Amino acid sequence: MTQTVLITGANRGIGKALAEKCAQNGMFVIVVSRNLEKAKPVFNDILSHGGKAILKKCDVSNLSDIEILGKEIKQEFKSLDILINCAAINTDTDDTSIENMPVDLLHDTMQTNFFGSVWMCKEFIPLLKKSESGRIINFSSGLGQLGVPRMGPFPAYSMSKTAVNALTKVLADEVKDSSIIVTSVDPGWVATDMGGPNAMLTIAEGIDTPYWLATAPASDLQSGCFYKERKILDW
Ligand SMILES: NC(=O)c1ccc[n+]([C@@H]2O[C@H](COP(=O)([O-])OP(=O)(O)OC[C@H]3O[C@@H](n4cnc5c(N)ncnc54)[C@H](OP(=O)(O)O)[C@@H]3O)[C@@H](O)[C@H]2O)c1
Repeated sequence: MTQTVLITGANRGIGKALAEKCAQNGMFVIVVSRNLEKAKPVFNDILSHGGKAILKKCDVSNLSDIEILGKEIKQEFKSLDILINCAAINTDTDDTSIENMPVDLLHDTMQTNFFGSVWMCKEFIPLLKKSESGRIINFSSGLGQLGVPRMGPFPAYSMSKTAVNALTKVLADEVKDSSIIVTSVDPGWVATDMGGPNAMLTIAEGIDTPYWLATAPASDLQSGCFYKERKILDW
């Protein structure tokens, strides 16, 4: 049966590459972007290669956008198999510190990276429960890992990704009696607009673990865990 996957931030970077790979492998892709014009090339490319997709607008920092998206998807689909919370921002600069941090910077970062992921999960859990094997993949980062000597730089981004990991842990426990597997992923340092040109991994390499989390047999995965390079990472 065709799997349905919803990917936020699917107009560029890792989200775009995941959308394309999922479509190439026969999934129905719900391409979600806050800017439809920017997402049209991805959408059209999927269709022109024979893939199946629809394009939806949603700014994940805006709760009413998420609720409208949820309402539309629930009208059009009976279930959702995979939710990939990929959209994120990092607007910290090299010298951002807690001491000098503008209020809006932390607020906007948490609103997109953390609240966006929480409200997307909340909105789509009912549809994911209707899948035989639901998956939620929350994009975290090595910068969100607590068990390392130094979390920084990028304090607002780091704290937002630690909070995303908490979401994964809490939600996995909450849905443990369902078939939904909830994971966090650190894709590694990837050469996107966010990762910059000096990053160690190509985008194709960066999507390896998130795509594997979306497609591996359930028996190979542990819900409520943080993954990097297809292995469980310490929190
Ligand atoms: N690249 C890395 O080295 C790296 C490392 C660790 C983790 N990650 C994580 O991997 C994920 C993808 O990163 P990336 O490198 O592909 O980043 P990117 O190239 O900067 O792309 C970010 C995507 O998120 C979208 N986005 C941002 N705010 C949004 C909002 N409020 N609503 C909807 N979409 C929004 C962007 O849309 P617009 O085009 O409209 O801005 C864009 O599509 C992120 O969660 C990131 O934190 C990346």
